Amino acid sequence: MKNIIITGASRGIGFDTAVILARQGHRVLALSRNEEGLRALKKEAGEQLDFMAFDLLKPDAGALLEKVRPMEQVDVLINNAGYLLKKPFEEITNTDWSRAFGVNFFGPAHLMQILRPFLEKSGEAHILNIGSMGGYQGSAKFPGLSGYSASKAAISNLTECLAEEWKEKKVACNCLCLGAVQTEMLAEAFPGLQAPVSSEKMGEFLAYFATSGHRFFNGKVLPVSVSTP
Ligand SMILES: NC(=O)c1ccc[n+]([C@@H]2O[C@H](COP(=O)([O-])OP(=O)(O)OC[C@H]3O[C@@H](n4cnc5c(N)ncnc54)[C@H](OP(=O)(O)O)[C@@H]3O)[C@@H](O)[C@H]2O)c1
Repeated sequence: MKNIIITGASRGIGFDTAVILARQGHRVLALSRNEEGLRALKKEAGEQLDFMAFDLLKPDAGALLEKVRPMEQVDVLINNAGYLLKKPFEEITNTDWSRAFGVNFFGPAHLMQILRPFLEKSGEAHILNIGSMGGYQGSAKFPGLSGYSASKAAISNLTECLAEEWKEKKVACNCLCLGAVQTEMLAEAFPGLQAPVSSEKMGEFLAYFATSGHRFFNGKVLPVSVSTP
């Protein structure tokens, strides 16, 4: 049984991953802004799951630490929350950059910093960052996704650096760069597009990788896509 924190769990891939992990018997703390979504998650996941409203753009570290302290150690952190910015590059404003990098890079980076002492206590911790094929070097790129893809590339790079810095602390760090998955995020950004993978199936894979991947990978940025990059 592992202590797991997952962000972006009020809907989509994070929701499905959290349900699976809690049903497997892990102790899950789910974070997101939307409490209604988190309450629905709790209903599905059962008593192994606790939740807390948390905004990555305005992180309340004190409130989070109060919630985490009784867990004593954190074995898995899944930085899954994401913000998909879709705009031509020339129209991207400073507010857009701040939001995309805030949710996709600065928020996860801050979480990793404040949770470090709890991750260290695990002795075999795993940080799983959720990137995107758009941020994977050499992949096919799509117009309108430059800001989003750049923020995902940043978290991929930080993954490699952090794995090196924290290897003596026994904190592994990997990044999975997802291809299209059928979620509300995808439907909002690309109406009508049918992804080859469901959110539930991706949740199954993430639950497996988050709890086992650190035994085989560290500092790796891995494409998770059934289509050619
Ligand atoms: N779906 C795809 O095709 C696809 C492809 C590649 C990568 N990904 C990545 O996979 C991850 C999950 O994607 P998804 O499709 O499941 O997305 P989604 O349905 O839009 O869910 C995103 C989650 O992130 C949370 N979130 C957004 N802004 C936040 C903030 N400021 N603070 C805290 N939480 C915040 C949302 O919760 P609240 O609104 O409640 O805060 C929500 O639970 C993301 O990192 C995404 O970039 C998805």
